Amino acid sequence: MEGKLVRLRAYEKSDLDAVMKWVNDEEVTDLLGGEMLVYPVSSIAEAKFIEAAAGSSDRQKNFVIETLAERRYIGAISFNVIEWHNRCAGLGIVIGDKSLWGKGYGTDAMRVMMRLGFDKMNLHRLWRHVHNYNPRAIASYERCGFKREGVLRQEHFARGRYHDTIVMGILESEYRAVT
Ligand SMILES: CC(C)(COP(=O)(O)OP(=O)(O)OC[C@H]1O[C@@H](n2cnc3c(N)ncnc32)[C@H](O)[C@@H]1OP(=O)(O)O)[C@@H](O)C(=O)NCCC(=O)NCCS
Repeated sequence: MEGKLVRLRAYEKSDLDAVMKWVNDEEVTDLLGGEMLVYPVSSIAEAKFIEAAAGSSDRQKNFVIETLAERRYIGAISFNVIEWHNRCAGLGIVIGDKSLWGKGYGTDAMRVMMRLGFDKMNLHRLWRHVHNYNPRAIASYERCGFKREGVLRQEHFARGRYHDTIVMGILESEYRAVT
């Protein structure tokens, strides 16, 4: 699945070294949700994650983001909570290579994922929780057409205190209006 800058593809075992380059980088993991990456991650645990992510699952779809130009791993994107009854899915995204932040790769990958979700999987709503201290992610999602749906007050503990979490989402009709 290709965008203008990136291609989304399935995980391969050979991705392990590239993944290990960012999973223990707090500057990156501090911006992600969930508890998994709060603690140091071993290559053993990460290999298990890749094995699971490479397999097919109805609940999750995990992909590698690679550059179109060099076919180089730069990050990952997923539908990590798919609810088929409600036809909605939660998204996760990371560009692990910090030198590539702010160059359009994340927005491009998200647009490919929206195409998959709305045009192929027949989903109705995509959503993402974002820490309020992550303006780059918020700007990228808004660029894709996501709206701020609400605020979960003091939902996330990081940097020694609680932070609000912003719920962002896009409906299929909104996606159709911007494509
Ligand atoms: C969030 C992330 C996926 C976005 O991908 P990206 O390739 O860096 O983002 P893009 O370059 O496509 O878009 C970034 C947008 O933020 C803006 N931006 C960049 N730096 C910014 C900053 N410090 N403050 C506010 N906005 C900023 C850019 O101008 C751009 O908006 P525009 O297209 O309207 O000009 C990527 O930065 C990342 O992986 N970050 C670490 C992990 C993370 O935060 N994951 C998301 C968790 S919710």
